[in-house]
Amino acid sequence: MTVYFYRDRFVESGQSAVPIEERAYNYGDGIYELVRFDQGRPVGLDEHLERLETSAAAVRLRLPFPLAKIRAIVVEAASRVEAPVVDVYFQISRGEAPRVHAFPEAEPVLALFAKPGKTYTDEFRRAGVSVITVPDERWSNCYIKSLNLLPNVLAKQAAVEAGVYDAVFVRDGFVTEASASNVFGFHAGTFHTAPAERGILNGITRRFIIAAIRELGLPLCEERMSAKFFEQEVEGAFITSTTMDIMPVCAINGRVLPSLAENSPVWTVLNRMRELSRGAGLSVG
Ligand code: PDD
Repeated sequence: MTVYFYRDRFVESGQSAVPIEERAYNYGDGIYELVRFDQGRPVGLDEHLERLETSAAAVRLRLPFPLAKIRAIVVEAASRVEAPVVDVYFQISRGEAPRVHAFPEAEPVLALFAKPGKTYTDEFRRAGVSVITVPDERWSNCYIKSLNLLPNVLAKQAAVEAGVYDAVFVRDGFVTEASASNVFGFHAGTFHTAPAERGILNGITRRFIIAAIRELGLPLCEERMSAKFFEQEVEGAFITSTTMDIMPVCAINGRVLPSLAENSPVWTVLNRMRELSRGAGLSVG
Protein backbone atom coordinates (compact mmCIF):
# COMPACT_ATOMS: atom_id res chain seq x y z
CA MET A 1 0.00 0.00 0.00
CA THR A 2 1.43 3.37 -1.04
CA VAL A 3 0.28 6.82 0.03
CA TYR A 4 0.85 9.78 -2.29
CA PHE A 5 0.97 13.51 -1.73
CA TYR A 6 1.23 15.97 -4.61
CA ARG A 7 1.45 19.76 -4.42
CA ASP A 8 -1.00 20.47 -1.59
CA ARG A 9 -2.92 17.29 -0.85
CA PHE A 10 -2.91 13.53 -0.49
CA VAL A 11 -3.98 11.92 -3.77
CA GLU A 12 -4.85 8.54 -5.19
CA SER A 13 -2.03 7.33 -7.41
CA GLY A 14 -4.24 7.55 -10.50
CA GLN A 15 -4.79 11.26 -9.90
CA SER A 16 -1.18 12.22 -9.49
CA ALA A 17 -0.30 12.77 -13.16
CA VAL A 18 2.70 15.07 -13.33
CA PRO A 19 2.69 17.89 -15.90
CA ILE A 20 5.15 17.18 -18.69
CA GLU A 21 6.75 20.60 -18.36
CA GLU A 22 7.68 20.03 -14.75
CA ARG A 23 11.24 20.94 -13.79
CA ALA A 24 11.88 17.69 -11.94
CA TYR A 25 10.98 15.83 -15.11
CA ASN A 26 12.73 18.06 -17.60
CA TYR A 27 15.90 18.93 -15.72
CA GLY A 28 16.02 16.91 -12.51
CA ASP A 29 15.68 20.41 -11.05
CA GLY A 30 14.92 19.57 -7.46
CA ILE A 31 16.00 17.89 -4.28
CA TYR A 32 14.75 15.02 -2.14
CA GLU A 33 14.96 13.11 1.11
CA LEU A 34 14.03 9.63 2.20
CA VAL A 35 13.23 9.03 5.84
CA ARG A 36 12.34 5.83 7.61
CA PHE A 37 9.74 5.30 10.32
CA ASP A 38 10.38 2.27 12.51
CA GLN A 39 7.41 1.16 14.62
CA GLY A 40 5.89 4.60 14.07
CA ARG A 41 9.02 6.49 15.15
CA PRO A 42 10.99 8.50 12.60
CA VAL A 43 14.71 7.81 12.39
CA GLY A 44 16.65 11.07 12.23
CA LEU A 45 13.76 13.17 10.92
CA ASP A 46 15.26 16.44 12.22
CA GLU A 47 18.51 15.65 10.46
CA HIS A 48 16.72 14.79 7.19
CA LEU A 49 14.74 18.04 7.30
CA GLU A 50 17.85 20.03 8.08
CA ARG A 51 19.63 18.42 5.12
CA LEU A 52 16.61 19.22 2.93
CA GLU A 53 17.03 22.89 3.88
CA THR A 54 20.76 22.73 3.13
CA SER A 55 20.14 21.16 -0.28
CA ALA A 56 17.42 23.70 -1.07
CA ALA A 57 19.64 26.64 -0.16
CA ALA A 58 22.52 25.20 -2.19
CA VAL A 59 20.44 25.11 -5.37
CA ARG A 60 18.53 28.32 -4.52
CA LEU A 61 15.22 26.52 -4.31
CA ARG A 62 12.45 27.99 -2.16
CA LEU A 63 10.59 25.43 -0.07
CA PRO A 64 6.86 25.38 -0.87
CA PHE A 65 5.94 25.27 2.82
CA PRO A 66 7.62 26.08 6.12
CA LEU A 67 9.71 23.16 7.35
CA ALA A 68 7.26 22.48 10.20
CA LYS A 69 4.48 21.92 7.67
CA ILE A 70 6.66 19.63 5.55
CA ARG A 71 7.46 17.68 8.71
CA ALA A 72 3.74 17.39 9.54
CA ILE A 73 2.95 16.11 6.02
CA VAL A 74 5.76 13.52 6.23
CA VAL A 75 4.55 12.31 9.64
CA GLU A 76 0.95 12.20 8.43
CA ALA A 77 1.95 10.21 5.33
CA ALA A 78 3.85 7.67 7.41
CA SER A 79 0.91 7.26 9.78
CA ARG A 80 -1.37 6.44 6.84
CA VAL A 81 0.71 3.35 5.93
CA GLU A 82 -0.02 0.32 8.04
CA ALA A 83 3.33 -1.38 8.31
CA PRO A 84 5.99 -1.78 10.98
CA VAL A 85 8.59 -0.06 8.82
CA VAL A 86 7.61 2.79 6.51
CA ASP A 87 9.77 4.76 4.09
CA VAL A 88 8.72 8.27 3.12
CA TYR A 89 10.27 9.68 -0.05
CA PHE A 90 9.68 13.38 -0.59
CA GLN A 91 11.01 15.69 -3.24
CA ILE A 92 10.73 19.35 -4.02
CA SER A 93 10.99 20.55 -7.58
CA ARG A 94 11.29 24.07 -8.93
CA GLY A 95 7.80 23.58 -10.31
CA GLU A 96 5.84 23.60 -13.52
CA ALA A 97 6.83 26.10 -16.21
CA PRO A 98 7.57 26.30 -19.96
CA ARG A 99 10.93 24.68 -20.55
CA VAL A 100 13.63 27.34 -20.37
CA HIS A 101 16.79 26.70 -18.41
CA ALA A 102 16.85 29.78 -16.15
CA PHE A 103 14.72 29.85 -13.01
CA PRO A 104 11.05 30.27 -13.97
CA GLU A 105 8.28 32.18 -12.26
CA ALA A 106 6.80 29.06 -10.76
CA GLU A 107 5.68 27.65 -7.46
CA PRO A 108 7.92 24.90 -6.06
CA VAL A 109 6.15 21.56 -5.78
CA LEU A 110 6.24 18.96 -3.04
CA ALA A 111 5.71 15.37 -4.19
CA LEU A 112 5.81 12.48 -1.76
CA PHE A 113 5.13 8.81 -1.46
CA ALA A 114 5.15 6.59 1.61
CA LYS A 115 5.21 2.81 1.58
CA PRO A 116 6.31 -0.21 3.62
CA GLY A 117 10.09 -0.28 3.89
CA LYS A 118 12.19 -3.24 2.83
CA THR A 119 13.98 -4.85 5.73
CA TYR A 120 16.79 -7.39 5.80
CA THR A 121 17.15 -10.40 8.03
CA ASP A 122 20.19 -10.77 10.25
CA GLU A 123 21.02 -13.83 8.16
CA PHE A 124 21.14 -11.71 4.99
CA ARG A 125 23.26 -9.16 6.80
CA ARG A 126 25.62 -11.81 8.11
CA ALA A 127 26.17 -13.11 4.58
CA GLY A 128 26.81 -9.54 3.40
CA VAL A 129 26.72 -8.09 -0.09
CA SER A 130 29.34 -7.92 -2.81
CA VAL A 131 30.43 -4.71 -4.52
CA ILE A 132 32.53 -3.53 -7.44
CA THR A 133 34.33 -0.22 -7.76
CA VAL A 134 33.47 2.13 -10.63
CA PRO A 135 34.68 5.59 -11.66
CA ASP A 136 32.81 8.41 -9.95
CA GLU A 137 31.64 10.48 -12.90
CA ARG A 138 29.25 12.68 -10.95
CA TRP A 139 29.45 16.44 -10.43
CA SER A 140 31.40 17.96 -7.58
CA ASN A 141 28.41 18.85 -5.37
CA CYS A 142 27.26 15.42 -4.23
CA TYR A 143 26.60 16.80 -0.72
CA ILE A 144 23.38 18.15 -2.25
CA LYS A 145 20.66 15.49 -2.34
CA SER A 146 19.62 16.42 -5.84
CA LEU A 147 17.22 14.62 -8.13
CA ASN A 148 19.97 14.17 -10.72
CA LEU A 149 20.82 10.53 -10.17
CA LEU A 150 21.66 9.32 -13.65
CA PRO A 151 25.30 8.40 -12.82
CA ASN A 152 24.04 6.61 -9.70
CA VAL A 153 21.50 4.70 -11.80
CA LEU A 154 24.20 3.72 -14.31
CA ALA A 155 26.57 2.63 -11.53
CA LYS A 156 23.92 0.46 -9.88
CA GLN A 157 23.04 -1.06 -13.24
CA ALA A 158 26.72 -1.83 -13.86
CA ALA A 159 26.74 -3.64 -10.50
CA VAL A 160 23.62 -5.62 -11.35
CA GLU A 161 25.10 -6.61 -14.72
CA ALA A 162 28.32 -7.64 -12.99
CA GLY A 163 26.26 -9.92 -10.74
CA VAL A 164 26.98 -7.95 -7.56
CA TYR A 165 24.86 -5.89 -5.22
CA ASP A 166 26.27 -2.41 -5.52
CA ALA A 167 28.89 -0.13 -7.00
CA VAL A 168 31.35 1.92 -4.97
CA PHE A 169 32.49 5.16 -6.59
CA VAL A 170 36.19 6.01 -6.93
CA ARG A 171 37.27 9.56 -7.78
CA ASP A 172 40.92 10.51 -8.30
CA GLY A 173 42.00 7.24 -6.68
CA PHE A 174 39.86 7.64 -3.55
CA VAL A 175 36.61 6.02 -2.47
CA THR A 176 33.78 8.54 -2.23
CA GLU A 177 30.56 6.60 -1.55
CA ALA A 178 28.34 3.95 -3.14
CA SER A 179 25.49 4.38 -5.62
CA ALA A 180 22.97 5.11 -2.84
CA SER A 181 24.89 4.72 0.39
CA ASN A 182 28.04 5.69 2.27
CA VAL A 183 31.04 3.38 2.57
CA PHE A 184 33.11 2.34 5.59
CA GLY A 185 36.21 0.18 5.69
CA PHE A 186 37.74 -1.61 8.67
CA HIS A 187 41.43 -2.39 8.95
CA ALA A 188 43.78 -3.21 11.84
CA GLY A 189 41.24 -2.15 14.45
CA THR A 190 40.35 1.17 12.82
CA PHE A 191 37.22 2.25 10.95
CA HIS A 192 37.73 4.34 7.84
CA THR A 193 35.32 6.53 5.93
CA ALA A 194 35.51 9.52 3.60
CA PRO A 195 35.13 12.91 5.28
CA ALA A 196 31.87 14.79 4.73
CA GLU A 197 33.15 16.97 1.90
CA ARG A 198 31.32 18.31 -1.12
CA GLY A 199 31.96 15.10 -3.05
CA ILE A 200 29.77 12.85 -0.89
CA LEU A 201 26.35 12.96 0.69
CA ASN A 202 26.76 13.28 4.44
CA GLY A 203 24.44 10.38 5.19
CA ILE A 204 22.28 10.51 8.29
CA THR A 205 23.03 6.81 8.84
CA ARG A 206 26.74 7.59 8.41
CA ARG A 207 26.41 10.12 11.24
CA PHE A 208 24.71 7.58 13.50
CA ILE A 209 27.52 5.12 12.80
CA ILE A 210 30.21 7.68 13.54
CA ALA A 211 28.37 8.48 16.79
CA ALA A 212 28.28 4.75 17.64
CA ILE A 213 31.98 4.26 16.84
CA ARG A 214 32.91 7.27 18.99
CA GLU A 215 30.64 6.21 21.82
CA LEU A 216 32.22 2.77 21.83
CA GLY A 217 35.64 4.41 21.96
CA LEU A 218 36.82 2.69 18.77
CA PRO A 219 39.36 4.30 16.44
CA LEU A 220 37.92 6.13 13.45
CA CYS A 221 39.87 7.62 10.58
CA GLU A 222 37.63 10.13 8.77
CA GLU A 223 40.04 10.75 5.94
CA ARG A 224 40.02 10.01 2.24
CA MET A 225 40.38 6.25 1.79
CA SER A 226 42.44 5.22 -1.24
CA ALA A 227 40.83 2.85 -3.68
CA LYS A 228 43.88 0.59 -3.45
CA PHE A 229 43.51 0.35 0.33
CA PHE A 230 39.79 -0.36 0.00
CA GLU A 231 40.14 -2.83 -2.85
CA GLN A 232 43.19 -4.70 -1.60
CA GLU A 233 43.63 -4.27 2.13
CA VAL A 234 40.53 -3.66 4.25
CA GLU A 235 39.49 -6.66 6.34
CA GLY A 236 35.92 -5.52 6.59
CA ALA A 237 33.61 -3.00 4.95
CA PHE A 238 30.00 -1.93 5.05
CA ILE A 239 27.65 0.37 3.23
CA THR A 240 25.12 2.51 5.05
CA SER A 241 21.84 4.23 4.21
CA THR A 242 18.40 4.97 5.55
CA THR A 243 16.90 1.96 3.79
CA MET A 244 19.66 -0.60 4.49
CA ASP A 245 20.94 0.90 7.71
CA ILE A 246 24.26 -0.91 7.87
CA MET A 247 25.05 -3.64 5.37
CA PRO A 248 28.29 -5.62 5.59
CA VAL A 249 30.26 -6.13 2.39
CA CYS A 250 31.43 -9.69 1.73
CA ALA A 251 33.48 -9.11 -1.44
CA ILE A 252 35.12 -6.20 -3.26
CA ASN A 253 35.84 -6.71 -6.96
CA GLY A 254 35.78 -10.46 -6.26
CA ARG A 255 38.18 -10.27 -3.28
CA VAL A 256 36.33 -12.14 -0.55
CA LEU A 257 36.37 -10.52 2.89
CA PRO A 258 36.44 -12.73 5.98
CA SER A 259 32.94 -13.22 7.36
CA LEU A 260 32.10 -11.17 10.40
CA ALA A 261 32.33 -12.83 13.78
CA GLU A 262 29.50 -11.99 16.18
CA ASN A 263 31.94 -10.38 18.58
CA SER A 264 33.90 -8.44 15.94
CA PRO A 265 34.05 -4.63 16.18
CA VAL A 266 32.01 -4.31 13.00
CA TRP A 267 29.12 -6.30 14.48
CA THR A 268 29.37 -4.37 17.73
CA VAL A 269 29.13 -1.06 15.87
CA LEU A 270 26.33 -2.39 13.71
CA ASN A 271 24.24 -3.31 16.74
CA ARG A 272 25.01 -0.17 18.72
CA MET A 273 24.26 2.05 15.74
CA ARG A 274 20.89 0.42 15.29
CA GLU A 275 20.06 0.99 18.96
CA LEU A 276 21.24 4.59 18.80
CA SER A 277 19.34 5.46 15.66
CA ARG A 278 16.16 4.04 17.15
CA GLY A 279 16.65 5.77 20.48
CA ALA A 280 14.40 8.73 21.16
CA GLY A 281 15.69 12.18 20.40
CA LEU A 282 19.29 11.37 19.58
CA SER A 283 20.65 14.19 17.50
CA VAL A 284 23.67 13.54 15.36
CA GLY A 285 23.61 16.95 13.64
N1 PDD B 1 20.09 7.28 -0.56
N2 PDD B 1 24.99 8.51 -0.53
C1 PDD B 1 24.08 8.53 -1.53
C2 PDD B 1 24.53 8.81 -2.92
C3 PDD B 1 22.73 8.25 -1.24
O1 PDD B 1 21.83 8.29 -2.23
C4 PDD B 1 22.34 7.95 0.10
C5 PDD B 1 20.92 7.67 0.47
C6 PDD B 1 23.33 7.94 1.09
C7 PDD B 1 23.00 7.61 2.53
O2 PDD B 1 22.31 8.67 3.14
P1 PDD B 1 21.29 8.41 4.35
O3 PDD B 1 22.03 7.61 5.36
O4 PDD B 1 20.98 9.78 4.84
O5 PDD B 1 20.11 7.68 3.81
C8 PDD B 1 24.63 8.24 0.75
C9 PDD B 1 18.67 7.14 -0.35
C10 PDD B 1 18.32 6.17 0.70
C11 PDD B 1 18.05 6.86 -1.70
O6 PDD B 1 18.35 7.60 -2.62
O7 PDD B 1 17.26 5.93 -1.83
